[in-house]
Amino acid sequence: MGDSTKSINIGYTDEFGSIIPPIYISSIYKYIDEEGSKKSDRNITIKYYREENPSLRILERVLSSLENTEDSLVFSSGMAAISTIAMNFLNKKSRVLLLKEMYGSTIQLFENLSNKFGITIKKVFPSDENIIKELEENHYDLAIIESITNPTLKVIDISKIGNIIKRVDTNIIIDNTFATPILLKPSRYGFKLILNSTTKYLSGHNDTMGGSISGESNLINDLWEWRRLFGNIQQPFEAYLTLRGIKTLPLRIKQQSENALAISEFLIDNSKINRVLYPGLKDNEYNKIALNIFEKPYFGGVLSFELKGDLNQTKEFLRNLKIIKPSPSLGGTESIVTLPSITASRYIDENDKKELGISEKLIRLSVGLEDIDDLINDIEQALSKI
Ligand SMILES: Cc1ncc(COP(=O)(O)O)c(C=O)c1O
Repeated sequence: MGDSTKSINIGYTDEFGSIIPPIYISSIYKYIDEEGSKKSDRNITIKYYREENPSLRILERVLSSLENTEDSLVFSSGMAAISTIAMNFLNKKSRVLLLKEMYGSTIQLFENLSNKFGITIKKVFPSDENIIKELEENHYDLAIIESITNPTLKVIDISKIGNIIKRVDTNIIIDNTFATPILLKPSRYGFKLILNSTTKYLSGHNDTMGGSISGESNLINDLWEWRRLFGNIQQPFEAYLTLRGIKTLPLRIKQQSENALAISEFLIDNSKINRVLYPGLKDNEYNKIALNIFEKPYFGGVLSFELKGDLNQTKEFLRNLKIIKPSPSLGGTESIVTLPSITASRYIDENDKKELGISEKLIRLSVGLEDIDDLINDIEQALSKI
């Protein structure tokens, strides 16, 4: 079954014949003891919403189907999912491998945990060679990587990392938020736990928050227990909105990728532009890796670029945009821009930022679904004023 069919048809069957799932807002369910109680399809008693909720279960089944994993869990945000991973896998003195470039709050979370509980963190420049070398030469309890890094869009060849997963004794988590299961399916390469901020592309309309973890049932069962204890489960209405958004995920990813490529090609030819980072550009150093490992011949809806001018001119350009809005998120139907050095990347070490190419002038553009001519005209008129 293809991803579009999965995203529309998996997850819900109803005894009354309703095709669109109801939202289960009940926080309590009839329960005396296990005998005769209602169970979810993963055999968990449905008695209290913080533990198991039918609305969330529908979304979890769709996510498992798209990620090709045994099971999934949804959380109140991407960070809730990452915190739950941390609590599940870390002990006093654990060793954690991270990337120098990843979502800034992920780095900050582990640095705070390290200060509090004596956990050791090592961060490497994002590349398959560096990650493999570290995992083979040193012991790590937990490693978290991103498939496409934020914000310079480095694509990590996860097929190579997949080759060592069975050999190393490390729980490796892949954050697939930028790629989504439409572009990249880490389970194909042996990854056992895949994380998504569903706030972004999966829900896709900038009106909800959530996070998900998909993977092997035994690991998901352990994480389920932490979700119950932390109480960081998703709200039913958020799950419903995400489920509704997912139905158009394959279409959106295709169109947003096409729009992002068109804008990248427009920018690269413009004399006011210093550099453009987008794996879809033929001379981008990650283009070949992306073509090898992505499910589709397109490259996602985010690109980053720098103007030739200084920071003030860069900010003036952002203020001049009329259709594209300034906001620090990504993955929705609206095109939005941000300066990652003061938003998503602000917790990345200053030296690391230099090495990674995250300058204060770098602009990240999450391309939406507006008409491409309007987006390009908007950028052109904003550039003409600086
Ligand atoms: C790659 C990545 N992972 C995780 C997160 C955290 O997700 P949330 O904002 O839903 O907590 C983000 C947020 O921007 C992100 O970009």
